[in-house]
Amino acid sequence: MNAVELINHRSEADVARELRADARDGLTAEPKRLPPKWFYDAHGSELFERITELPEYYQTRAEYEILETHALDIVERTGLDTLVELGSGSSYKTRLLLDAMRKNETLRRFVPLDVSAAALRGALEAIAADYPEPALYGIVGDFDTALAALPEEGTRLVALLGGTIGNMRHHQRVRFLRTVREALSTGEWLLLGTDLVKDPARLRRAYDDSAGITAEFNRNVLRVLNRELDADFPVNEFEHLADWNEERERIEIGLRAPRPMRVRLAELDSTIELAAGEVIETEISAKFRRERVDSELAEAGFEPVEWWTDRAGDFAVSLARVR
Ligand code: AVJ
Repeated sequence: MNAVELINHRSEADVARELRADARDGLTAEPKRLPPKWFYDAHGSELFERITELPEYYQTRAEYEILETHALDIVERTGLDTLVELGSGSSYKTRLLLDAMRKNETLRRFVPLDVSAAALRGALEAIAADYPEPALYGIVGDFDTALAALPEEGTRLVALLGGTIGNMRHHQRVRFLRTVREALSTGEWLLLGTDLVKDPARLRRAYDDSAGITAEFNRNVLRVLNRELDADFPVNEFEHLADWNEERERIEIGLRAPRPMRVRLAELDSTIELAAGEVIETEISAKFRRERVDSELAEAGFEPVEWWTDRAGDFAVSLARVR
């Protein structure tokens, strides 16, 4: 049986404080904005799982194809025996890496990091049931705090899959990659999934699907605020926006108020006003080219070592070594 350890660096009170601060800052800013991490309550996580199965949303399948083809290569090239996964998500892709480590007889430790204690517990239990060999260390916290608490043993590879880094802006990405770099030692590894620049029409469809699941996912952030901050956003009136910003090469997602609104957030003891047509920015999803990924990795202290794409060339996984 596995030794299972769960370290919690984020209490319920921390979460509540963070949400209040993000809502207060974001909704008094110009333009108004809310960070995408608040999409993911239980309902939002379920909606995201459904997004990954949509015909228009190719990313999850493309990344799976890459890992299916190259997992063993990754394990052999790196000699990794400790898999650190940022964001536990659904574990299909993790399992490809764990299977390859098992095959290579180097499956020693699995260290998932997640902001959600519930998601982490679920992921750990599922992994423990099928993989008795590795020691399991779950760390609950934001990436900064959690990375500082990594176990030191073994040859570690930090995996950030699913294109999650696309939610960050350039300066945030470099700062984040530096934090990962500082948590590791020279010769250790990073595995990074990035969605690639492609036909804007396809990108727009991936973020505005015909079944309306992404729109529901987007609106869910307002449901979270209604529940947690006792707010009264008329959620279903908001229009889902997903625009391609050609210059910055990113999808910009927002919620548009169709009419002037006054929204009360009782828990913050505040009221905000929205003009007709005003947009609350809820997410960016940056799309990449190889040169940009390689240069940001280098800027953060990594040496890009390998770059794989799916056959269609839609998505990439990069392997980089700490310099
Ligand atoms: C989880 C950040 C990779 O940007 O594609 C999917 C989130 N938002 N549809 C993405 C998302 C709307 C997703 N990431």
